[in-house]
Amino acid sequence: MSELITNKIQIYLQDALKGMAEHEENSFDLAICDPPYGASSTKKWNYDSEKKKKGFGGDWKMAGHEWDLLSGHEIFQFCMAWLNELKRLVKPSGSVWIHATYHNAGFVNVACQLLGLEIINEVVWYKRNAFPNLAKRRLTASHESILWVHTGGKKREYIFNYDAVKAASFKGDMLKEAGKQQRTVWDIPNNKRKEELTFGKHPTQKPLRVIERILMIAGTKEGKLLVPFAGSGTELIAGLNYGMQGVGYEINEEYFDLAKRRIEFEEQKIKNQLFV
Ligand SMILES: C[S@@+](CC[C@H](N)C(=O)[O-])C[C@H]1O[C@@H](n2cnc3c(N)ncnc32)[C@H](O)[C@@H]1O
Repeated sequence: MSELITNKIQIYLQDALKGMAEHEENSFDLAICDPPYGASSTKKWNYDSEKKKKGFGGDWKMAGHEWDLLSGHEIFQFCMAWLNELKRLVKPSGSVWIHATYHNAGFVNVACQLLGLEIINEVVWYKRNAFPNLAKRRLTASHESILWVHTGGKKREYIFNYDAVKAASFKGDMLKEAGKQQRTVWDIPNNKRKEELTFGKHPTQKPLRVIERILMIAGTKEGKLLVPFAGSGTELIAGLNYGMQGVGYEINEEYFDLAKRRIEFEEQKIKNQLFV
């Protein structure tokens, strides 16, 4: 198994369920999950072998990522399995953040309720610069949901850095002013800064700014962050810069290598700053 282990970050080229099973309960202060959404399709869209519907003939490929090809039933079972592990692994004082689109949001919500993970908030990440709908058959998708849930039962001990986020304002977010409470709609453009793409792209790479907001709200300095679906390493890098240790899993070798390079670069940057 390939891995990168540094003082602060561990990332493994491994199935998250297998990797998470090796940790003891209550080992983490926070988990940030960006799971497969089941949004991909490589199905043929011929509705009849004789007649082809205009625009739907042949191999209609929306976003054929192999890791994302899950049926509804598979997504729900998978969701129950990894959320159950997170319930075991995240301390009652911690919390779990889960990215979702309409493809998996319902499954995640039901799974949380069945497992007794209380939903604290549903955040709508509004992407002001969303890509237009080229087929002109739907509204322009311009948001994603992020569920904030906790594992701690009725005591609600989860960390909420209320004052820090209330005091903050964010460049370009027209919905948040310094000194006002953070609302559940976050106005964060989907574009990445140049340095986030230096080593290559992941098809569903999150901008660091989204994860930085999550960490400001629920991060623990010197605490431990779990990232089951690491992709290009965005969540681990944001955690590192916030001052957390991180453990992540990624099943795809290409994305694992990308994450590894990004993390190594980021760690070197921190070291260089220390010696200036
Ligand atoms: C939505 S993407 C995460 C993207 C990430 N947030 C970023 O900014 O780069 C989900 C990732 O989970 C990985 N994945 C899917 N199933 C997995 C599993 N069972 N264990 C570990 N990683 C998995 C995929 O290869 C994919 O890179």
